[in-house]
Amino acid sequence: MKKRILTGDRPTGRLHLGHYVGSLVNRVRLQDEYDMYIMIADVQALTDNFETPEKVRSNVKELLLDYLSVGIDPERVTIFVQSLIPEIAELTVFFSNLVTVAQLQRNPTVKQEIADKGHIFKNGNVTFGFLGYPVSQSADILFCKAELVPVGEDQLPMIEQAREIAKRFNRLYGEVFPEPEAMLGDVARLMGLDGRKMSKSFNNAIYLSDSTEEVEKKIMAAKTDDKEGITFDMKARPEISNLIRYYQIATGKEVEEIEKEFAGETSFKVFKEALAKALNEFLDPIRQKRDTFAKNEGLLDKVLRNGSARAKEAAEDTMAEVRRAMKIDY
Ligand code: TRP
Repeated sequence: MKKRILTGDRPTGRLHLGHYVGSLVNRVRLQDEYDMYIMIADVQALTDNFETPEKVRSNVKELLLDYLSVGIDPERVTIFVQSLIPEIAELTVFFSNLVTVAQLQRNPTVKQEIADKGHIFKNGNVTFGFLGYPVSQSADILFCKAELVPVGEDQLPMIEQAREIAKRFNRLYGEVFPEPEAMLGDVARLMGLDGRKMSKSFNNAIYLSDSTEEVEKKIMAAKTDDKEGITFDMKARPEISNLIRYYQIATGKEVEEIEKEFAGETSFKVFKEALAKALNEFLDPIRQKRDTFAKNEGLLDKVLRNGSARAKEAAEDTMAEVRRAMKIDY
């Protein structure tokens, strides 16, 4: 029996190079070895986009296209939509008895997000739904009894919450859930074109679906420094080092190889032109796959329906156990 993995993304925008190195590559690599579930977390996305449901709706398809274009294979991976599994919402209600409000208010990820989203939660006036999303995310992970959750470091408090809920549930009602573990990627976070963390909210990202021209424009306008040469030193030269990392992702070359390739080069422009070309060569097959899938609405629909049907089966099995354990199996 293969171990089950669950991971997911909020459908709020297209995926970028940071997502690619931080998680997508790993998912493609792990899809044979594990029984992998990937959730398009539309219900969670609505917790901070409840005023713009059309944004969430349109990004479900974009997210699916990003998955398929990098080689996540729906034959091997269960790709599904959170809202199509109402058992997750049901499980969230039961789990909410096992978590205190203070615990949620202490959650570092939630705290940070409330601070970042001041335009939605004015004066720290957070909604019940958003404050409680760690409970809902615990249900995301536990409804299918996932044992491993590949995530970035910012999500660690979420996995800890899921572990605590699983433990508490098992102690009170009997052994139903595994205690899931985080699976951290080994790549350092990718920085954006301005030296800050690559993120859609900073407008500094290179998207997997950017056109050739967009990539060229973004790279040529990327920040450099006033030193000379193309050398890697994250501390002293973060901007150039970051561009070297992009080159590394695009070509698969080692840093030393890249430094050698550009030894004696004094023009950032020459390096940037080479980088834009390499990135476009790397992105071309991804873009082509994306275009092909985008034209095939029927296939996209089928992928989500089949994946969600599979996830629903797992959910129904788990809920039968949960109801029995909680003595509500009327
Ligand atoms: N909270 C995650 C993020 O913002 C997305 C997510 C939803 C998730 N449900 C999940 C990740 C379950 C891992 C497991 O990126």
